[in-house]
Amino acid sequence: MPRLHVNVDHVATLRQARREGFPDPLAFALECEQAGARGITCHLRLDRRHIQDEDVARLRAGIATLLNLECSLAEEILAIACGSGADAFCLVPESRQEVTTEGGLDVAGERARLAEAVPRLTEAGGLVSLFVDPDPHQLDAAREVGAPFVELHTGAYALARGAAREREFERLARAVEHARSIGLRVNAGHGLDEENVGPVASLEGIEELNIGFAIVAQSLFHGVGGAVERMLARIG
Ligand code: PXP
Repeated sequence: MPRLHVNVDHVATLRQARREGFPDPLAFALECEQAGARGITCHLRLDRRHIQDEDVARLRAGIATLLNLECSLAEEILAIACGSGADAFCLVPESRQEVTTEGGLDVAGERARLAEAVPRLTEAGGLVSLFVDPDPHQLDAAREVGAPFVELHTGAYALARGAAREREFERLARAVEHARSIGLRVNAGHGLDEENVGPVASLEGIEELNIGFAIVAQSLFHGVGGAVERMLARIG
């Protein structure tokens, strides 16, 4: 069964909507940990639309589980990541217009920059993963640039319905198998919710699921602990 890591970005989205001091992503993270989350994830975007630099430092100092920092390849962000003390780094693509991370990294296209960033982040003390679509070419390229982990993008699976979802699920299943066969460790996330998480959680070989939006949204109705517990129950 994969571990649940909760992404707290959208607690900060709510706070930034009013430029208030609350709700606090750290307070939310601590309640998630109490309810059984095994790690906390946040994404320090270049545009700082949700998580701020001080959130990363406060999360690092305050949580008891693992901190996974999502970051782009922008130098400003990489420099902060290297000094953050995070336990893990997930490299993601980022564009200013997107509502959320839209697709996986083009690892082959970014090979040169990734071949520098991966050892740099590893030296800073974190396990590095690359956020990629469930595509064997991206997985092969991830292996070549030396990343120990990939995080498989589950967004297409989450958005698909009916037979299309079945196809996307098969793609994920094949990607997990391929990644493991070439020595990559595998996490997954994006768009997962209480309704669609079960099949992904049951795939043998996925170590960690990163789930944010659905848990933050469900916490409005069930409380933070309730939302985490409901998700854990569906993970199995
Ligand atoms: N994994 C990565 C790499 C992401 O960028 C995000 C979104 O920030 C997530 C997981 C979580 O996605 P969601 O908020 O849809 O659960």
